[in-house]
Amino acid sequence: MPGILEDKDRIFTNLYGRHDWRLEGAKARGVWNGTTEMLRQTPEWICDQIKASGLRGRGGAGFATGVKWTFMPKQEGERPHYLVVNADESEPGTCKDREILRNDPHRLIEGALLASYAIRAHDCIIYIRGEYLQEREHLEAAIAEANEAGLIGPGNVHGWDCNIRLTHGAGAYICGDEMALLESLEGKKGQPRLKPPFPAGSGVYGCPTTVNNVESIAVTPEILRRGAEWFAGFGRPKNSGVKLMSASGHVNRPCVVEEAMSIPMRDLIETHFGGVRGGWGNLKAIIPGGASVRMIPAEQCEEALMDFDDLAARRSGLGTAGLIVMDKSTDIVAAIARLSYFYKHESCGQCTPCREGTGWMWRIMERMVTGEAEPKEIDMLLDVASQVEGHTICGLGDAAAWPIQGLFMHFRPEIEARIANYRSRRANVPGATLIAAE
Ligand SMILES: Cc1cc2nc3c(=O)[nH]c(=O)nc-3n(C[C@H](O)[C@H](O)[C@H](O)COP(=O)(O)O)c2cc1C
Ligand code: SF4
Repeated sequence: MPGILEDKDRIFTNLYGRHDWRLEGAKARGVWNGTTEMLRQTPEWICDQIKASGLRGRGGAGFATGVKWTFMPKQEGERPHYLVVNADESEPGTCKDREILRNDPHRLIEGALLASYAIRAHDCIIYIRGEYLQEREHLEAAIAEANEAGLIGPGNVHGWDCNIRLTHGAGAYICGDEMALLESLEGKKGQPRLKPPFPAGSGVYGCPTTVNNVESIAVTPEILRRGAEWFAGFGRPKNSGVKLMSASGHVNRPCVVEEAMSIPMRDLIETHFGGVRGGWGNLKAIIPGGASVRMIPAEQCEEALMDFDDLAARRSGLGTAGLIVMDKSTDIVAAIARLSYFYKHESCGQCTPCREGTGWMWRIMERMVTGEAEPKEIDMLLDVASQVEGHTICGLGDAAAWPIQGLFMHFRPEIEARIANYRSRRANVPGATLIAAE
């Protein structure tokens, strides 16, 4: 049964920055331990281990990491291979990669070396969110230390030449999408490319590329050190491993924590985040995966498990496991309208359903907040959301539609009442009735 993770099973032992993040501190915590032995194995062995561990990408979509690595060509041809680490982390409610970048950068660098070897890449680029200044400084310093100590770079002690470098974004959420990120890396406007071709066939500079999230890469050394079985032992089948999870909003102790996958959501909140403000009974709803998934109402939060399959079955998603917790004081319509504004603002404008639809949805959502929307606009809004969902080049269109769909799926009567109330107070709204007493 899913339970609470014991300290001995934690990978990120400096999550809160209480210890030295530099090379000596990292080594004392077991990083760079046995790396050479792991690199003596074949790339296929590493891919097999990661596959056996059941690791699914921690960037949101949950694609199997080991399987993704096997999509890369088996031999390096004329075009060099690249590993791109996605450290753009701009998803609202998500702040997990940040703790790795600033407090455990060597774990990421060691993982980048191992993953580069597994996909036969001698070049790794880490693309970090532009606003992450301290994180960039720590990571830059750690890369310099690792180069100086001969752990990475040309002619390093591990025998696999690997140049790891850092570059940064400039504040656009869309550059977190892997295809927009590749464009941005090439110095172009961050607009997602169409797939296919997929990055493993033609990625950055037209070369075979694997893009992975920071956490996906940072956990791989420990999986190889402790064994695939150890990692696979946490969580339910197909949802295995340990995972960084966080909470923001109406909890008593918002923070990031490492936990076993499939932990019940309520246990997670009560054990690590100090419970819901005002008690569990004061909970209204939770958006569990950062902002880009459908919310789940309090009744379901009671039963929900923190894993891909349970949350998908509830028509939501694990996403980045960044819980946005809303208590009963929340104006939930206003909260979702604010997210709609975010997606409208961040749309790259390349495809019509997203460019037009996000603005349209936001404007109607604003009218839902005040109650001045017409009742029939609810179905119009849901119709537009369904026309955006699944009809765009990248996932931002879905991300914009899902929070709205989740709102109406669970709180439609509340919004209908708001509209009725607004109309009942205004005689000039067609169909409105005056409340005689007022
Ligand atoms: C709009 C948008 C923003 C995204 N932002 C991020 C991000 O900040 N970090 C991230 O790792 N993945 C992000 N993703 C997912 C990436 O496209 C990609 O799936 C991920 O980096 C793959 O890594 P993984 O397989 O290790 O999860 C985003 C996707 C979309 C559509
Ligand atoms: S879905 Fe939106 S953000 Fe993504 S490519 Fe289309 S317009 Fe750009």
